[in-house]
Order: sequence, then C-alpha cells, then structure tokens
Amino acid sequence: QAAASGTAHAKVILLGEHAVVHGAPAIALPVHSLALTASVTRTDRPLWIDSVLYRGPIAAAPELLAAPVTALAETLRFTGAPATGLTVRIDGEIPAERGLGSSAAVAAAISTAVARAAGVELGARERFDLIQAAERVAHGTPSGLDARAVVSDTAVWFQRGDVRALPSAFTGVFVIADTGLHGRTREAVGGVAALKAADPARVERILDRIAALTAAAAGDLAADARAALGERMTETHRMLAELTVSSPELDRLVGAATAAGALGAKLTGGGRGGCVLALADTPVDAARIAAGLRAAGAERTWMPAARPGLTPG
Ligand code: PMV
Repeated sequence: QAAASGTAHAKVILLGEHAVVHGAPAIALPVHSLALTASVTRTDRPLWIDSVLYRGPIAAAPELLAAPVTALAETLRFTGAPATGLTVRIDGEIPAERGLGSSAAVAAAISTAVARAAGVELGARERFDLIQAAERVAHGTPSGLDARAVVSDTAVWFQRGDVRALPSAFTGVFVIADTGLHGRTREAVGGVAALKAADPARVERILDRIAALTAAAAGDLAADARAALGERMTETHRMLAELTVSSPELDRLVGAATAAGALGAKLTGGGRGGCVLALADTPVDAARIAAGLRAAGAERTWMPAARPGLTPG
C-alpha cells in the first residue's frame, strides 16, 4: 500500500534546443504516453530504492542513479522528513539519454511522491528547484526546459527560466523516432559553446535564426499552420547540423521522414544521438512516416496521439 505517489511524463523539444542555452526561447511538447510513477511506502528498512536499474539501499546505489538519489535526498531535506524508513519504487520507463527528458521525469516523480509522503504538496517553483538540483547532477548546466516540460499538461514556451503554457488547436500529428544511440547532450552543448568562442558572429547568426523560427512556430501552433511549421522544423535541423549537434544517423532519419511525406523533421533534444521528431498532416500519413523511419533504421517510433491543447499522448 503506497503512502503517496507522483507521476511525470516524457517531453520532446519542438524547436529551440541549444539556442535556449544561449537565451533564446524554446517550445517543448509533453508526451503523456511515456510516463513514470514513483510510489513511496513506509518500511522499517533504511532508505530503499526499487527500480528496473537497481533495487537496494540508497546508500549503495550505483553512480548511474546519482541524479534520482539527489532528488530524493533534496526533497527529504526540504520537507524535514527523516532519511529512513521509506521505499521508493519507480514504475514505467522513459528511454534514457534520448532527449526525451527521462532524468527530469524521474526526479519530478520522486520529488512529488516523497514530498506527498511527508504531507507536503510542492508548489511549481519548489518542484522546479528540486528537479533542477537532480538535473545539475545528470547534465551539468541544464536550461530548466526539461524540468518544466515533464510536468506540464500543455506545450510550453520557455525562455531564461520563465515558462508559459501554449494552448493551441493544432491538428498535426507528431512522430518520434529513436536512433537507438545515446544522445550526448553535455558534449553537444560544449561543442556549441566552443564553436561560439571560435566564430561568434557566425554562431550568433545561427542562434538568432533558430530563435526567429521558434517565435514563428508559436504562431503556427495557434493557427494550425502545419505546412509552415514543418518547414521551420526542417530548416532548424539544418541549423542544428551547422552547430555540429546532428549525426549521420539523425540526418538519415530526417531524410527518411521527408521522403515518406513528412511536412518537416528535425533532431530533438541535445543531439549527437537520441531522437528525431517528424510532423505529419494526418494519422494515416504519420503511420506511413513511422514505417519509413523504421525501415531507415529507427529502433523505435512513437506516435503520440494529437489532443486538443496539443498534448500528444
Ligand atoms: O537532450 P535533452 O532533451 O535533455 O535536451 C537538451 C536541450 C538543450 O537545449 C540542448 C540543453 C538544455 O539544457 O536546454
């Protein structure tokens, strides 16, 4: 019998990754079909974790779990609850290191559940701070976009730490395709910073263009301008490739999506591995594009169902 539980879901970045690190806006979409639940039960054991990756006392958890352990420890500290006598179980899975926000989602679910077990309902700001503490362990200097998107029911507009919901009547259908390769966000973010230091004028130009495409995309979502949004996605992929964060596998999947009739496609998240996001006009088109992506080597595809308010999944 769980004393308390918390949930969070995956996210994809529609537009603005990398540029968001340098102050530009980004838009992220929730993916409700990939979700996690953390359940807390009281036991007479020391702090215990029960997940597919590890089952045992927190004190002996592997380095791989350093971020979720940070979320747990920081939440206990925040609530003042004793750091013993709880088992935290994680159910559900979001593939890790694919740009889908798995680390932020695990931290969000744990923080919510552990706070609730102590009788505390976290406010948005408190929960954000707890997720960010874990994200710093996982990623170094996260913009905070994932921390906001994995607990949002709607698309979010994010810039310099501020977030707002983006309601929309968008009817297009998204397809997510996994290269099966681990994304290397930290390395890719460092690559962009190094490029910016070497050639600031050129990189600023690219970042400005991505920011303009992102701003226009918010209008596309509101106006259900599917073809225009698709074109902005594909142009953004080219910009991201210039920033050195694409890879041959990502480029191949973007090409395959377009060849199968996608309105546009791009890498999503940190890049250099991870996933591609493609846009289809209709569910039938999306199924054909997903098949084309798998034929071109995608390990998995997801088709989050379109819902009013653009909450895929
Ligand atoms: O790989 P992800 O989904 O965690 O996304 C990283 C997004 C970046 O803009 C590249 C980095 C960030 O902190 O926003």
